[in-house]
Amino acid sequence: MKIVRTVSELRVDGEIGLVPTMGALHGGHIALLRAARAENEVVVASLFVNPTQFDEQADLQAYPRDEAHDVEVAEREGVDVLFAPSGEDIYPAGFGTWIDVDDTGAEGAARPGHFRGVATVCLKLFNIVRPARAYFGQKDAQQAIVVRRLVRDLNVGVEIRVLPTVRDSDGLALSSRNARLSPAERERALGLPRALAKAGASDDPVRVARAELNGLTPDYVEVLDLDGARLLAAAVRVGSTRLIDNVLLEGDLS
Ligand code: PAJ
Repeated sequence: MKIVRTVSELRVDGEIGLVPTMGALHGGHIALLRAARAENEVVVASLFVNPTQFDEQADLQAYPRDEAHDVEVAEREGVDVLFAPSGEDIYPAGFGTWIDVDDTGAEGAARPGHFRGVATVCLKLFNIVRPARAYFGQKDAQQAIVVRRLVRDLNVGVEIRVLPTVRDSDGLALSSRNARLSPAERERALGLPRALAKAGASDDPVRVARAELNGLTPDYVEVLDLDGARLLAAAVRVGSTRLIDNVLLEGDLS
């Protein structure tokens, strides 16, 4: 595996599958890496904690970083190139062009500027890496919606693949932020996947999810449309950690 740290050194030939990540790789990222490995000649994973998508400075500071672990995981999963640029390389002095995205749902409303940062860095990564396919998780459903619309609206020639959410055995969706939960908080956090699972099987998903959240206060509960698939999505705060999750109500993600 080659580790590339600057845009100018990144030269990859062949049919490329790109997995954009912010590192602290876990089973959710691994599922994307495996799909990319199975479907492409060359796999590029990016490792970049993108400062422009953090709406809270404290969240950026506390974001877990463990490059040695990420290198080991990427190597083991057959990544050909790990692209780990610096902040100055992605946002050099004078940087001033942004992707402005409309209609980013309740998640966008809760995190001003977040999807502008996500869309901008994703378009940059697509232009730098030039993948045939790029892999995203259903876990961040509004992100997948934003990225699918970005490539459609701006005629970017990349296929966006969205893969199902990977969960721990107790049902909690894997997330880099789970590491910040105390054991008691983690127990409370399980109220989120449990409420969504129950609500998804009911005929009034938003109402049932709110009623089943077991004392957790939702930022929002809403139904999302991802290219015809309907998802029930919610965000909650457990202590100082914000968690998001969703379940499929109708259709599929392909
Ligand atoms: P990050 O949070 O590292 O996630 C990278 C990818 O892994 C995203 O597409 C995310 O949806 C997916 N993912 C995370 N947890 C998952 C899970 N439990 N199951 C399946 N997939 C999961 O999302 C980002 O980084 C950034 O916003 C990024 C796209 C890299 C742009 O900076």
